[in-house]
Amino acid sequence: MATYVITGANRGLGLALAQHLAAEGNQVIGTARDPSTATTLSAIPGVHVVALELTDPESSKTAAAEVTKLTGGAVDVLIANAGYYSETLPLDFETYPSDDALIEDMKTSFDINAIGAVLTIKAFLPLLKAGKQKKVVYISTPAGNPQFSRVAKNYMSVSYGVSKAAADYAVLKFAIKYADEGFIFMSLSPGGVDTSATAKVSAIPTTPEGQARFMRMVESFLRASPKWDRRVQTPEEAAAKCIDVINKLKPEDNGRFLTHHGDETTWF
Ligand SMILES: NC(=O)c1ccc[n+]([C@@H]2O[C@H](COP(=O)([O-])OP(=O)(O)OC[C@H]3O[C@@H](n4cnc5c(N)ncnc54)[C@H](OP(=O)(O)O)[C@@H]3O)[C@@H](O)[C@H]2O)c1
Repeated sequence: MATYVITGANRGLGLALAQHLAAEGNQVIGTARDPSTATTLSAIPGVHVVALELTDPESSKTAAAEVTKLTGGAVDVLIANAGYYSETLPLDFETYPSDDALIEDMKTSFDINAIGAVLTIKAFLPLLKAGKQKKVVYISTPAGNPQFSRVAKNYMSVSYGVSKAAADYAVLKFAIKYADEGFIFMSLSPGGVDTSATAKVSAIPTTPEGQARFMRMVESFLRASPKWDRRVQTPEEAAAKCIDVINKLKPEDNGRFLTHHGDETTWF
């Protein structure tokens, strides 16, 4: 049994990760912006829900203090899963309706996906140092990966991708600093996951023009993963693959970016 903290566990991939890990008998603490509405998460036996709002710099410290009380001060694995993306995914720098819209989306994405993740990792470091596994897993995305973007010729998902790439780089900085202390910091891409059942806003645009852009984005995925059957995983399937990769992490994986297949190139 190990102790896991999963951010953004009230829905989507985070919820499936919590369900899977709790079913294995692990101690799971899932974060939610509003724990009072995280009813599915809090109903999972063995799961505790803690409040975390990534845009509030104090929130990660408060969450870590609460987790200290629940766990006695040790956490084995932190899965920084909470993230922000929207129907702007298929946009590139020139297709936002205005520069103001681009700036707002970039700031929101950066605040949540990059700065929020860094502050979460910082707040939980003392607990991870006291844990046995010392694994920090940042749930990233192909859209933020330079190798994927080159092969896929993917110039879209700019706000999301740039913010995720920034977080991947931050994870690498932590990995380098803590390389000699038994830590494994890494970024993990879950592939395509259909989280629409619990989504607040659809990532698929509603206008014909937006849908055409979305299809161009999917075509770019196929360029990078020509064997992909276009089937998007269920959250449960993606969670099982991600957990398998996390369980198999070795010290030499510190600082790496892996896909849910456990390699660096099978994106979907
Ligand atoms: N779905 C995919 O195909 C896919 C592909 C590649 C990578 N990913 C990555 O996988 C992770 C999970 O994706 P998903 O599809 O499960 O996302 P999702 O369904 O949109 O869920 C996002 C989670 O993040 C939380 N969150 C958002 N903003 C937050 C904030 N400011 N503070 C704290 N929590 C916040 C949400 O909480 P609320 O419920 O309160 O909004 C929710 O729990 C993300 O990091 C995403 O980038 C997903």
